[in-house]
Amino acid sequence: MPKLHEVYRELFHIGAAVNPMSLITQKDLLSQHFNSVTAENEMKFERVQPEEGRYTFEKADQLVAFAMENNMAVRGHTLVWHNQTPDWVFENHSGGRADRETLLTRMKSHIDEVVGRYKGSIYAWDVVNEAVSDSGEQILRKSKWLDMIGEDFIAKAFEYAHKADPDALLFYNDYNESVPEKREKIYTLVKSLIEQGVPIHGVGLQAHWNLLHPTLDHIREAIERYASLGMKLHITEMDVSLFAHEDKRTDLTAPTEEMLELQAERYAQFFRLFKEYSDHITSVTFWGAADDYTWLDHFPVRNRKNWPFLFDTQHNPKASYWDVIDAV
Ligand code: XIL
Repeated sequence: MPKLHEVYRELFHIGAAVNPMSLITQKDLLSQHFNSVTAENEMKFERVQPEEGRYTFEKADQLVAFAMENNMAVRGHTLVWHNQTPDWVFENHSGGRADRETLLTRMKSHIDEVVGRYKGSIYAWDVVNEAVSDSGEQILRKSKWLDMIGEDFIAKAFEYAHKADPDALLFYNDYNESVPEKREKIYTLVKSLIEQGVPIHGVGLQAHWNLLHPTLDHIREAIERYASLGMKLHITEMDVSLFAHEDKRTDLTAPTEEMLELQAERYAQFFRLFKEYSDHITSVTFWGAADDYTWLDHFPVRNRKNWPFLFDTQHNPKASYWDVIDAV
């Protein structure tokens, strides 16, 4: 059976998001088919600095060690995000609201410590995650970072990350990246960062997609638009859910043949498209590796099994796998 990462070697990295459990249960699959890994959770703010100045790198270190042993690249995820960031970050020492300077100092220390620690082993970072709003006029979503620092929190994060590791590739990462309205906001944000001389090297397209959405045309338009900024593009969190977003059904106990066929067809279209844009797209990371574990088992509906990957629950190749191999 061809190895995914070998088949795509000339085009882009093939990555998977991993966690301490999957590093054990999916070890063989990971080392065979993937040449890049990302921490699903273990490098997020709450995991590496749960309390001020107390850094906990054990699990992140284990992940990086696994990658080194298996000759894999590591993408870092993520430094500044509105989720999975502890409350202390935004509070002063009497429990009130921290001021701008304090918050910037904390952001800088965090980035220095985390990016500095993995200098030379993490080649790319999702510096700022999901800062753009899904609807409304405002470009940026409401968040404590925005509220307490102001719009330049994004530029600052990139500047600190660049100082901490001048060789790392720095990404802005977001979802609904192919929805035209949000695509334009992301485009505008990144364009303005570039014009301000902010050290940014790429746009991360999360690619949490499903059997119907987004359309291939919308994805192409998004890739085209971001590529026009001269940025690198990474597909950072790919999965193809069997459920449309509004579909809240919970009665499916196994995927139907029809769903798996459609999923394979979608994956083939996506990978043919990525190949067309391989001058820009240098990495494709799945948000997991095989159907035995996916965050979609709990999102957006709790305890509803999903089957979004190229390998099934037993780590056997699905129709999607074979079609992705044929797409090269
Ligand atoms: C998700 C993880 O997969 C879950 O385990 C966790 O409970 C919540 O976060 N966008 C991102 C990722 O950038 O960090 C998210 O990961 C999925 C959506």
